[in-house]
Amino acid sequence: MSSPELPPAGTVVSADDEGLRLAVGVLCSGGLVALPTETVYGLAADARDPVALARVFAAKSRPTDHPLIVHLAPDDDLVGWAAHVPDEAAALGEAFWPGPLTLVLPRHRSVPPAVAGGRGTVALRKPAHAVARRLLETFGGGLAAPSANRFGRVSPTTADDVVADLGEAVDLVLDGGRCDVGVESTIVEVDEGTARVLRPGGLPHEALEEVLGRAVDLRPGGPSRAPGMLASHYAPRTPVELHDAEGARRRAVELVGAGSRVAVVSLHPLDLPSEAAAWHAEGDVAAYAHRLYRWLRRADAEGLDVLLAVPPPPAGVGVAVADRLQRAASH
Ligand code: TXA
Ligand code: MG
Repeated sequence: MSSPELPPAGTVVSADDEGLRLAVGVLCSGGLVALPTETVYGLAADARDPVALARVFAAKSRPTDHPLIVHLAPDDDLVGWAAHVPDEAAALGEAFWPGPLTLVLPRHRSVPPAVAGGRGTVALRKPAHAVARRLLETFGGGLAAPSANRFGRVSPTTADDVVADLGEAVDLVLDGGRCDVGVESTIVEVDEGTARVLRPGGLPHEALEEVLGRAVDLRPGGPSRAPGMLASHYAPRTPVELHDAEGARRRAVELVGAGSRVAVVSLHPLDLPSEAAAWHAEGDVAAYAHRLYRWLRRADAEGLDVLLAVPPPPAGVGVAVADRLQRAASH
């Protein structure tokens, strides 16, 4: 896409008034804008423009049957996006929006089938990030936005990550600094009697359970299984191995002894050989999530031979961290 008014494709601008004005111009002419959210950066396009949607799939090299999340402003009505909103879904939206929650709902007939990968449902999210909110409010419509990375790779948490992955395939990158949460939103489907987490994410399932007053199903499955949840998703190029703390220590000793360059990611500090890089989250699971994708990218940037990872306990956002590590390791 080009216009005399717009900077060259792949330009990074700060998310001030002028940056937002440029971004709205790009979106209104069918272009693609990378925008910061509290989870990860998204690659946004007008959710009601089928030509722009086709460009999103092409830019990511993403199969067209993998549906996109439609992002809305905090005050936007779900009418016109969802055909029907079950009471429990409404309660979750009320409790956690704006924030890292995505609800899968029956799709309104006016929503382009391309958004939903041809499904009868649509995924909706109201992000909390101030830049995302302002852009959505100024644009005045829904923005379809998958994570702004090439298909199958690690999601971006900075504007530089977006440029490294997508380059000129994105028309404009709004720089809003590093994303707070660091892993994607929690995707939930609620319908009569069941609430299922299709993808664990930044919103802990315990918080959902508190609002619903019952347990949620954590096994993604059935026909609604999020199609992006492939075993090998979210993978760096560096081989990733999962271990418990003692196993990681022993494996680090062995690999370092054989002359390999390794790093170990963990929640708590570990007693490692000095030749191994120790990347830990000081015991804070939110910090583990916040740093996870940066560490996966850093392993590639530093050309490590192996990344050893000790998953956190499966509670809170630790479930999402463990899930992404599992996928990174099955590459
Ligand atoms: O935090 C996030 O959710 C980020 C930011 C940018 O908002 N977005 C994101 O989008 O992670 P993406 O496209 O990378 O992942 C969306 C996931 C995919 O696994 C897709 O299959 C699933 O959502 N999904 C979207 N619509 C769906 C639907 N109707 N039914 C089931 N899964 C759906
Ligand atoms: Mg993604």
